[in-house]
Amino acid sequence: MRVLAVCGSLRPASSTRNALAIALAAAESGGAEVGWVDLDGLPWCDGRAVDAYGPRVDAFRAQLAGADALLVGSPEYHGSFTGVLKNALDLCGPEDLRGKLIGLVATARGDAGAMNTLNHLRQVSRWVGAWVLPAQVSVPRAGEAFDAQGQPVRAAIGDELGTLGRELVRYGRLLAADGAPSV
Ligand SMILES: Cc1cc2nc3c(=O)[nH]c(=O)nc-3n(C[C@H](O)[C@H](O)[C@H](O)COP(=O)(O)O)c2cc1C
Repeated sequence: MRVLAVCGSLRPASSTRNALAIALAAAESGGAEVGWVDLDGLPWCDGRAVDAYGPRVDAFRAQLAGADALLVGSPEYHGSFTGVLKNALDLCGPEDLRGKLIGLVATARGDAGAMNTLNHLRQVSRWVGAWVLPAQVSVPRAGEAFDAQGQPVRAAIGDELGTLGRELVRYGRLLAADGAPSV
């Protein structure tokens, strides 16, 4: 079981990355091999065939191909997920995400959290044929949600992220055992 995290923020001190790292660590504790997909340096999707972009996109898609499940996270930008993440998803071919299991995480500056981002990501994930866990984590007041070591300040957020990582492994194994049926 291989779980990769995809972070829609390129900020060096990203709270979304902190949140994903906690869920990823829980997946690792549950027995998964884990790693990160780097979105930095991907070209803009301009509508050409996905295999015509060259080695950077080929490597990105090969990384995804090697994953059974993905933890996908994004900050809320103007009520939705980031352009960086949407561009990365647009660089995927129609089969790249089909049948993958996805756990969603989103962060926001505001008290209301990032439900719009989670809902938009759920919709797009469904569109590309992925299975999305019902569990998801919205991190409100993200600027103060993690300490300097990246640990959650509010225990409940850490618990939710841990549960998400464990559920991803649990249901990922069920899907893998069943041959990852397509959607
Ligand atoms: C362009 C932009 C738009 C944003 N829009 C919202 C928003 O609609 N709602 C909100 O609560 N926070 C918004 N924020 C704040 C980010 O969601 C918040 O700072 C987030 O935690 C940043 O994630 P990161 O630390 O992973 O980069 C916005 C930030 C930027 C840069």
